[in-house]
Amino acid sequence: MGSSIILALDFSEKEELNDFLKQFEGEKLFVKVGMEAFYQYGPKLVDELKQLGHHVFLDLKLHDIPNTVNKAMKGLAGLGVDLINVHASGGSRMMQSALEGLEAGTRGGQKRPLCIGVTQLTSTSEEMLRSELHIATDMKNSVVSLAELAKGSGLDGVVSSALEVPMIKEACGESFLTVTPGIRLEGDMAGDQNRVCSPKKARSLGSDFIVVGRSITGAKNPLAAYDILKSEWRNINEVNR
Ligand code: C5P
Repeated sequence: MGSSIILALDFSEKEELNDFLKQFEGEKLFVKVGMEAFYQYGPKLVDELKQLGHHVFLDLKLHDIPNTVNKAMKGLAGLGVDLINVHASGGSRMMQSALEGLEAGTRGGQKRPLCIGVTQLTSTSEEMLRSELHIATDMKNSVVSLAELAKGSGLDGVVSSALEVPMIKEACGESFLTVTPGIRLEGDMAGDQNRVCSPKKARSLGSDFIVVGRSITGAKNPLAAYDILKSEWRNINEVNR
């Protein structure tokens, strides 16, 4: 499915978003529309991106009662997005309802959007897991058990840190997709992310897709940063995977 590098379009100003995309004219991108942009520009933005020929990951991380998630997904499937997500911690019934909603809303002749579950956000640290969320296990166990729950519920994969990919693949199988944010090029600031990883390392750990935001959107020359990222991602010796 297109490029394995997903560019996070985290812009709250439409003009900024358009200027950013203009630099990539002619390139078919895999872009991520998250809450920041979708809550302001909505379905019309997704439609514009699809018209430009880009693949779209709609990152709204749904987490609500099963019936609400089902109805929401039915509507979102109609936008023709390629990838969408829910919080795996919403439970198996919620995830199954999400899939049923997506199937019901997918237009005739189109493929159902792939649906992945967020395990633990990459901004969550071990310390937060214990002292704020009161989760009585460590990050790795929590991530793997949520990945197993997502797989058992029929989801196509999960969002996690690249650092957890080997364990997820071992528990859920090679074909279970891993989409990994928290990617930083050398010298970039981690910002609010905790479990960060370079593109090269993410690839060697077996990530299927990396999600990159500020390392590209905040770069002096986003196009040059994207090129560096592409070559870091591609040039890894496949034997090391
Ligand atoms: O700027 P940065 O590269 O940190 O952006 C990462 C993007 O991935 C953001 O849009 C964030 O919402 C998203 N994301 C994440 N962690 C997750 C799921 C999504 O950082 N677990």
